Amino acid sequence: MSRLIVVSNRVAKTDGANKGSEGGLAVGVMAAMEKAGGVWFGWSGKVDNRDETAKHEVRGNIEYVTVNMRQSEYNQYYKGYANSVLWPLFHQRPELMQYSDRDLSGYIQVNKKFAEELLKIIAPTDTIWIHDYHLIPLGKILREAGVRNPIGFFLHTPFPSLDLLRTVPGYKNVLEALLHYDLVGFQTEADHLGFCMGVCQGLGGEILKHDRLRYGDRHCTARVYPISVETQALPGVADRGETTQEYQRLYESLGDRKLLIGVDRLDYSKGLVRRFQAYDRLLGHNNEFLRQVVYLQISPTSRGDVQAYGDLAKRIDREAGHIIGTYADFDWMPLRYLNRGFRRKTILAMYRLAHVGLVTPLKDGMNLVAKEYVVAQKPEDPGVLVLSELAGAADELDAAVIVNPYDVDGMAGALAKALQMPLDERVDRWKSMMSVLKKQDIHAWQQSFLGDLLHLTKPQTIDSTA
Ligand code: F6P
Repeated sequence: MSRLIVVSNRVAKTDGANKGSEGGLAVGVMAAMEKAGGVWFGWSGKVDNRDETAKHEVRGNIEYVTVNMRQSEYNQYYKGYANSVLWPLFHQRPELMQYSDRDLSGYIQVNKKFAEELLKIIAPTDTIWIHDYHLIPLGKILREAGVRNPIGFFLHTPFPSLDLLRTVPGYKNVLEALLHYDLVGFQTEADHLGFCMGVCQGLGGEILKHDRLRYGDRHCTARVYPISVETQALPGVADRGETTQEYQRLYESLGDRKLLIGVDRLDYSKGLVRRFQAYDRLLGHNNEFLRQVVYLQISPTSRGDVQAYGDLAKRIDREAGHIIGTYADFDWMPLRYLNRGFRRKTILAMYRLAHVGLVTPLKDGMNLVAKEYVVAQKPEDPGVLVLSELAGAADELDAAVIVNPYDVDGMAGALAKALQMPLDERVDRWKSMMSVLKKQDIHAWQQSFLGDLLHLTKPQTIDSTA
């Protein structure tokens, strides 16, 4: 049996119910790792200029291997190229890019550092699965160091069209690096298409049979694997969340009021400003909702030392202040806005309590909050998911109330519709979304990606003339 080595910038070390406010990658990969076991390699989350030795720690069937980052590495790799170039670019915000050659070389340097540590632990029969935009060059670096193991890459974010990709200096290197993987996975057809077009038109490569791409002597397969959630296990986690003190306090504080909930890292891709404006419009145009609804927005601060994130935080504070100042009463707060995370079981129970789940990003790879919100609902009285058509999840969850996150009036109308939706329509929509999520859960995601990777790298399946 081949051992699995997962590599991602962040690793998650807690069990399903107690996980904190990690993003989709950590939650999704953890669920997959819990089942398969293996090694999970990544950044320790610590910045330390003195201690660079890798730490090994075994928990259950997962061996965690983590390394610290030096301050300069953190600045250039994480804060710089990954989150001030690739993140805005991949989320269609090129005007927020802050490119510098220095950050790019720091990004490559950290990928080399990861490769050096990995070379100490990779055995010939291991399967290597690398995740996300932080680590695009890692496969190429490992190949150049002689690693011949199957190496797959999964991108959790969107992948841009060639027109957008061209806005970053050296964009061809991004495409070319990805071609060093045996299998590259994307969240949606649109992301996959962006990559294929990039390889063909940007590099002059070609598309062969069976999703294979060729550029010079490089071949790789690129396919769509929409990430998902633990559909079977999550209702039990939500049950446990209902016994927490935080949940009980929320429940008691609501009385008869309907709850709307949003849970997003404080990130400009999440569409929070327009979402707040839509809620403002809902209250401003529909008196019947005054005092009858509460909107809880949970947004842990994220990447706060990147300027665009600091600017966003100030902007949202203003919008929140406006809503509270305009509509609140001495005994009713229309908005509860929190910059901290909660245990995952508590969040799942809160989803279940909420009449409306708001997931309105301006662009998102998948958005697992959307899927978790659906799975957490009570079958006999489910809430309504209001979902941006620009989240990857909208490709599968088309029975949600789909909105354009740039259309503030449209979103205000969708909120009113969701709050007033009759029970039979809520149940029909929920059942339709659940039928997708039962088939396409996190384990199916992992099995289909790894199954394809192993199949593609079996010696007899390689056909370089195809
Ligand atoms: O793919 C997006 C991602 O890398 C996921 O891990 C998660 O959604 C989020 O970004 C976490 O961000 P950070 O690791 O910068 O806190």
